[in-house]
Amino acid sequence: MTAKPTDRALLELCARHHDAFVRAYGSGGRVRLFFAPGRVNLMGAHLDYNGGPVMPMAIDRGTVVALRPRKDRALLLRSTTEPGEFRIELDAAPSAALRAWVDYPLGVALELFRESPRAVGLEVLFGGNLPVGAGLSSSASICVATAFALDQAWGLELTPFARVEAALRAERQFVGVHCGIMDPYSIGLARPGHLLWLDCKDASIEHLPIDAAQVRIAVADTGVRRELAEGAFNQRVAEAKRAFEGLRPFAPSATCLRDVSRAVFERHGRELEPVLRRRAHHVVHEVERTFAARAALVVGDLETFGRSMFDTHVSLREQYEVSVPELDLLVDAARAESGVLGARLTGAGFGGCVVILLRAGSEARVAERVSAAFQRRFQRAARIEVFQSDPGPREIVD
Ligand code: GLA
Repeated sequence: MTAKPTDRALLELCARHHDAFVRAYGSGGRVRLFFAPGRVNLMGAHLDYNGGPVMPMAIDRGTVVALRPRKDRALLLRSTTEPGEFRIELDAAPSAALRAWVDYPLGVALELFRESPRAVGLEVLFGGNLPVGAGLSSSASICVATAFALDQAWGLELTPFARVEAALRAERQFVGVHCGIMDPYSIGLARPGHLLWLDCKDASIEHLPIDAAQVRIAVADTGVRRELAEGAFNQRVAEAKRAFEGLRPFAPSATCLRDVSRAVFERHGRELEPVLRRRAHHVVHEVERTFAARAALVVGDLETFGRSMFDTHVSLREQYEVSVPELDLLVDAARAESGVLGARLTGAGFGGCVVILLRAGSEARVAERVSAAFQRRFQRAARIEVFQSDPGPREIVD
């Protein structure tokens, strides 16, 4: 069977990664290779930590992990894209984060090591083709990839849910990002050709098909990067929590901001301080929009689905205040093109990427015109690529 273009690209990436592994650690012994995707989020922006529904899709860009067992109990961790070589003795592992990229996989390793105290040492090299800090969930990708790879290497036989939960605990407790559940779930439970419908209140999931013959998903990268662990994201989480506390007395049965109805918000929102009112405004409306978008997708009404994405972007700009001029320009330029159904910033915001839903056949023209508009305004290029959906974490065997 001939490999599909995406498979071929992944096999080439893995072959290069294998060579890099041998350069880093030397030859000899069997090297195993694993892949986990990144994700885009089409609807449900900043809803996961507010208990709302989200609609992400895993993409065919992600993290590659190469590993080989050692005879001792040391974990050697390196990356092709990040600096440093880290040696962790499994029996004397650090209990606090090292404040480096390695905290993400290390946090996962420590989670899983607890379940398998006889685990052997490993040489591990991370890499891949997902830009870091671009809103495509590089952090959850490396965490889930690590959980999958260590599960296999240490013979733990974890369920996909257990791997996702280990990735989540590492990011929240070891790294200290107060992230919601969307990213590891969308990566760890992905299905090709489908969006994940994830209700973050009870973590229930459903796979909703997206018509690959009709639509394409493109991602336009502003090149503006943010550090998730540094401040702005955690600040939004804290503001949303305070907004909920302010509205809770008027919605006694609510357990999270998602439960606060639009009627309650309209009656009592003005009692919140302005910044919290704007955060709650976004969440209350985004919950409604996401349910409406789901209903539209299910009946094949992609125009309505796409319009919800545009509305989400406006709300992220005006109410949640997580957009930047580069993202707004890309969304506006996409909106002006025929064939584009919807566009919005994806991920946390503050830079990163715009996800564009467009009709199959229009992608080359749209990419050219949107990137020309970006170039005119910012005098530099915005990378625009079409992504396929991805089947989720797996071992890559050539
Ligand atoms: C980041 C977080 C996610 C989610 C999005 C916003 O990507 O990691 O959990 O909150 O922002 O939707």
